[in-house]
Amino acid sequence: AAELNPALLPLDWLLGTWQSDEPGEGCFPTISPFRYTETLHFSHVGQPVINFMFNAFHAESKKPLHRECGFIRMQPGTNKVAFIIAQNSGLVEVEEGELTGQQLNLQTHALARISFAKEPYVQQITRVFQLRPDGRLEQTVSMATDNQPLMQHLHITYRRSP
Ligand code: HEM
Repeated sequence: AAELNPALLPLDWLLGTWQSDEPGEGCFPTISPFRYTETLHFSHVGQPVINFMFNAFHAESKKPLHRECGFIRMQPGTNKVAFIIAQNSGLVEVEEGELTGQQLNLQTHALARISFAKEPYVQQITRVFQLRPDGRLEQTVSMATDNQPLMQHLHITYRRSP
């Protein structure tokens, strides 16, 4: 395996595979609450870039639902982090934010979608990743759409998988 690029040392705690330990919770004012499971993969090939894949499934039916994949970069010499993301819903997005200890706070920097994406359109996303003292990883996602202000859509915790 390639040696970790030193530019990524501040994010080494993300690397590997994470599996939701209990179902995550999805909500939004316009939809019925739902539960989901999710697996996260973060890897690297020696470049100053983390490659990631997130695959989510309906907790009860086990049907594949949401998927996203992309790249993470850090601005050298700073705590600035960028996520470059493609989602299966037809959304592509750049999120930027800051790393503070083992917490990442991100928000939409740029967003585009396929011409025939489902409405309502997402207009803004914020997310927080945090490695908790108990070793679990937590992700919280909020979004604003055409007709709703920024509000929580997802909350989930993961345990490291072998
Ligand atoms: C609904 C966006 C991640 C499951 C929605 C809606 C939007 C959206 C815009 C429609 C809201 C409305 O009708 O007012 C996003 C974005 C995500 C994301 C931007 C990532 C950043 C996920 C994940 C799951 C999920 C990880 C997990 C399974 C659902 C479900 C619904 C929904 C079940 C309601 C039914 C449906 O419209 O398909 N999401 N979502 N979403 N989302 Fe997400």
